[in-house]
Amino acid sequence: MLYINNLTKNYGKFTAVDNLSLHVPEGDLFGFVGPNGAGKTTTIRIVCGLLKASGGTVQIGDTKAAVGSKEMKRMIGYVPDFFGVYDNLKVKEYMDMYGSMYGMLSSDIAKLTDDLLELVNLTDKKEFYVDTLSRGMKQRLCVARALLHNPKLLILDEPNSGLDPRARVEMKELLKNLHSMGKTIVISSHILSELSEMCDSIGIMNKGKLITAGRIENIMQQAAGGKKIHVRVASEMEPVVRMMKEEAGVVVDSVRENELIITHSGTEEAVCELIGRMIQNKVLLTGFYQEEGNLESLFMQLTGGKN
Ligand SMILES: Nc1ncnc2c1ncn2[C@@H]1O[C@H](COP(=O)(O)OP(=O)(O)OP(=O)(O)O)[C@@H](O)[C@H]1O
Ligand SMILES: [Mg+2]
Repeated sequence: MLYINNLTKNYGKFTAVDNLSLHVPEGDLFGFVGPNGAGKTTTIRIVCGLLKASGGTVQIGDTKAAVGSKEMKRMIGYVPDFFGVYDNLKVKEYMDMYGSMYGMLSSDIAKLTDDLLELVNLTDKKEFYVDTLSRGMKQRLCVARALLHNPKLLILDEPNSGLDPRARVEMKELLKNLHSMGKTIVISSHILSELSEMCDSIGIMNKGKLITAGRIENIMQQAAGGKKIHVRVASEMEPVVRMMKEEAGVVVDSVRENELIITHSGTEEAVCELIGRMIQNKVLLTGFYQEEGNLESLFMQLTGGKN
């Protein structure tokens, strides 16, 4: 759906985005993660046609529309990192204003405004002044506004910044909801764990470069250098340790009285086969579980610990 190829942005001698290539598949909820100054906003603004790239291309779907063209802008709904100031404008009028910018009919705007305000849980605020809404409500209003022209791709730049925990949960629920409706969504954040629960895939960016991108589980495994597995047994431990040491791709990390911790660098299938062999060898297996990788430490490791 979204193809970014060799994107570069220079500010004088400084390279804010350095030869970045990325593909976000259709229907994906994609998390764009990186510490402050990584180049997330710069990349997003280029994709949305608000900033000119120094090099590279951006394509959405199979259209050949140029970045920044009307056609391209129609395909994107953009929620910026800054809401802006809207003096004396009611929620309803705010939606009207954006709808007419896209040349929509007022009857369509009115109908969609009702539907979208309901979706973002702001129906009762329709007659309120925008400036009187809370930060979380403004963010949700911004999402509703970005969806007015039914874009193929919704891009949100740090939608959670400045939100309290409850508002974050509400935002997450809203995005999950949109995801289940089939929207392709890109969301940026500098907090990996915030994205890991809801995103299908992530891209990690640091100092203008994309360090890694892909399905969350694959990235975690790649960074961890293998799966940490706890094996509990009710039978004698020694034969189990001996068996593990002979297994390909298995390293024994520690041995306790009835628990053994191993690192397995094979596939999920290889792990299943290992369990089968243990049972065949009459090991009395009472527990076998894989540790969840620590996402924050992975992020620190990949971004050089400077966050
Ligand atoms: N107009 C500009 N002129 C010069 N440098 C800029 C300009 N805009 C951004 N930069 C630099 O480009 C780099 C990337 O900035 P960007 O805002 O894209 O980062 P970010 O990943 O969005 O960070 P944050 O998490 O803080 O929002 C930063 O070092 C920033 O100082
Ligand atoms: Mg930013």
